[in-house]
Amino acid sequence: MDDHDNGAVIVALTDSLLARTDGLLTAAVGDALSTGCDPAVPARLTDEEWLDALADSLSDFSWLSLELSTRLPEGLLAALLNEVTILHKTEAMNRAGIGRGASLVEDRSVRRDKIAWLEGFSEPQALLFRFLDQIKDGLNQRLFLGLKRFEAHYATYQSGDFYKCHRDSFRGRASRVISLVLYLNDDWGLEDGGELQVYSSGEGGQPVGLVRPEAGRAVLFLSEEVPHEVLPAKRTRHSIVCWFRQDEVPLPL
Ligand code: OGA
Ligand code: MN
Repeated sequence: MDDHDNGAVIVALTDSLLARTDGLLTAAVGDALSTGCDPAVPARLTDEEWLDALADSLSDFSWLSLELSTRLPEGLLAALLNEVTILHKTEAMNRAGIGRGASLVEDRSVRRDKIAWLEGFSEPQALLFRFLDQIKDGLNQRLFLGLKRFEAHYATYQSGDFYKCHRDSFRGRASRVISLVLYLNDDWGLEDGGELQVYSSGEGGQPVGLVRPEAGRAVLFLSEEVPHEVLPAKRTRHSIVCWFRQDEVPLPL
C-alpha cells in the first residue's frame, strides 16, 4: 500500500496480493475503488429510505421529479456540465436519431437534440455511474425489475430544439424499463422554455406534469408507460438521459 498526497490509498496489484484467495483480492481491489480518488466522497450515495421513496413513487405514479443537488457529491453537477459544454463546443456530439441499429433514422421533425454517450471513464462520469448503479440495485431489490445495466448519454438542445411526444420503449420489448433524466442547467428561467411535459398514459394522454430543466433536478419514469415531450428550448439545454435495462446486450428496438 502507498499513501498519496491527497490521502487516497492505492492498492498495488502485486504478485503477493494476486497469490491470495479470490475473495481477499476482490475485497482489496473493491475497497480501493469504492474509496475513489476523493476520500470525502462516501461510497454510498443512496440510502434505504430514499430508495424506498423512489420505488414507492414509481410504482404508485409511474413517474416522479426529484431534487438531486444535495444528494450528489458537491461539484459533480458542475463537473458534468463542464464536460458536456466542452463536448458541445468542440462539436463532439452527434445528431440523435430515432430507433436503433439498422433502423435508426434521423427525423428532425420529431427530435433535434445532439447526444454523446457516457463511458464512465472520467471521474465525474464514474461517480455518476456509481450513483446510477446503486439506484439500479435498490430498485431491483424493491420492485423485482431484473434490471441488468444502464446506459446514459448527454443530450444538448440548442435554441429552437425539441423532442415531440414519445415513449422511450416499445411495449412488450422491456429493454428500457426505467428512464432517468438529470438536468444540468444553471438559472433556468420560465422564459427559457425547454420544459419536460409529462402526459398520462393511455389514449388521449393529458398533461400531468411540467418539469423545468434546472441543474440538479431529475425525473424518473417507467420507459414503456409514460409519454413525454421536450418543449422547444429557448437557450442551450444540457442534460443526461439514462435508461435502466433488462437486457444484457442491446436488442434492436
Ligand atoms: C429523451 C427524453 C427528456 C428530457 O431523451 O428520450 O425524453 O427532458 N428526454 O430531456
Ligand atoms: Mn424520452
